[in-house]
Amino acid sequence: MLDLQRQYEQIRAEVLAAVGRVCASQHYILGPEVEAFERELADFCGAGAAVGCASGTDAVGLALVAAGVQPGDQVLTTPFSFFASASAIVRAGARPMFADIDPHTFNLDPAQVESFLRSSRRDKLRALLPVHLYGQCADMDSLQQLADEFRLSLVEDAAQAIGASWGTERSKARSAGSMGVSAAFSFYPTKNLSAYGDAGLVTTNSPAMAAHMRRLRNHGSPRRYLHEEVGWNSRLDAIQAAILRVKLKYVQGWNETRRQRAATYDQLFAAAGLTSAGGQPENSAPIQLARTSAHAHHVFHQYVVRAYRREELREFLSARKIGTEVYYPIPLHLQPCFVYLGYREGDFPEAERAAKEVLALPMFPELTEEEQRWVVKSIADFYC
Ligand SMILES: Cc1ncc(COP(=O)(O)O)c(C=O)c1O
Repeated sequence: MLDLQRQYEQIRAEVLAAVGRVCASQHYILGPEVEAFERELADFCGAGAAVGCASGTDAVGLALVAAGVQPGDQVLTTPFSFFASASAIVRAGARPMFADIDPHTFNLDPAQVESFLRSSRRDKLRALLPVHLYGQCADMDSLQQLADEFRLSLVEDAAQAIGASWGTERSKARSAGSMGVSAAFSFYPTKNLSAYGDAGLVTTNSPAMAAHMRRLRNHGSPRRYLHEEVGWNSRLDAIQAAILRVKLKYVQGWNETRRQRAATYDQLFAAAGLTSAGGQPENSAPIQLARTSAHAHHVFHQYVVRAYRREELREFLSARKIGTEVYYPIPLHLQPCFVYLGYREGDFPEAERAAKEVLALPMFPELTEEEQRWVVKSIADFYC
């Protein structure tokens, strides 16, 4: 599914030198490495400022609180995401609300968001939290229009989307992390830009918000032993920042390679006659490819298809030592911990169908074309 060893071999000397630099400095939490990484990451995204923290989960929480979400508020997000998109809303004291996804991109569907907003249930709604799922930005133009009309903060969950962008023209595209009032990134070890442990970061164009998040990540403290509010201990380690600085130089190239790998999969599936592009009508094809919006620069954190008889296919591939994953098998509105929200099966049919059908295939820059051929041939063998 993912072989991190291959990446490590390429950058090993640089990483070890960066770790050595931090050890020599004996400055392990926040400090100059973290500040340098924050500046470099903000520049990379075209954002005014960046605030490092301990995880992507904390980053979503910080981004929401800094955007003004308060206990008792509601935040609207997608039911088809990693758990943290919703749990961070709860940790901020707010109530997660959901709208269904677009079946082609798996991202929050603006039409569903709009019908929610025009309903009567939105009186306590403070923010929209789209997730750029699998590395493809949600439809930020439509969501921004809705956020403006309904006076909501637009916060990006960009945990999976470092380097992705959105725009009608590539030259005018805006990067993930520069579109919302704040945006959260995760550097979990499997991400396109990954640390050697947990790490996260929030970007914003607001200096005041950045200053607030710097306090919040450090016990709400503007200076030692003074606490203006109760925050977290969510500081970024200098060793993680130093490693991330090494990798940031490569991430654009790695993302480009991921895009080529995705195009190769598309072609191999079509050539194998497994998809609608290969001559089968869409509803009878055993594999259905996800769609990349014409406005999205997708960075393929995951390459995800819909697969007929998914569980049997997974077992078949696993016997051939081909790793696959299901992101995500249970939609958020059906998680046991969210029973109190009052959602039921059938409320978000597209998210529920996606949960039953999606399958993530091996995807990382060092994956070889030969390995991809073996994956697609094995899938063809299963269906034949
Ligand atoms: C969409 C999304 N949001 C938030 C997170 C949380 O990030 P972390 O695991 O770094 O806490 C993740 C992590 O996978 C994610 O995919």
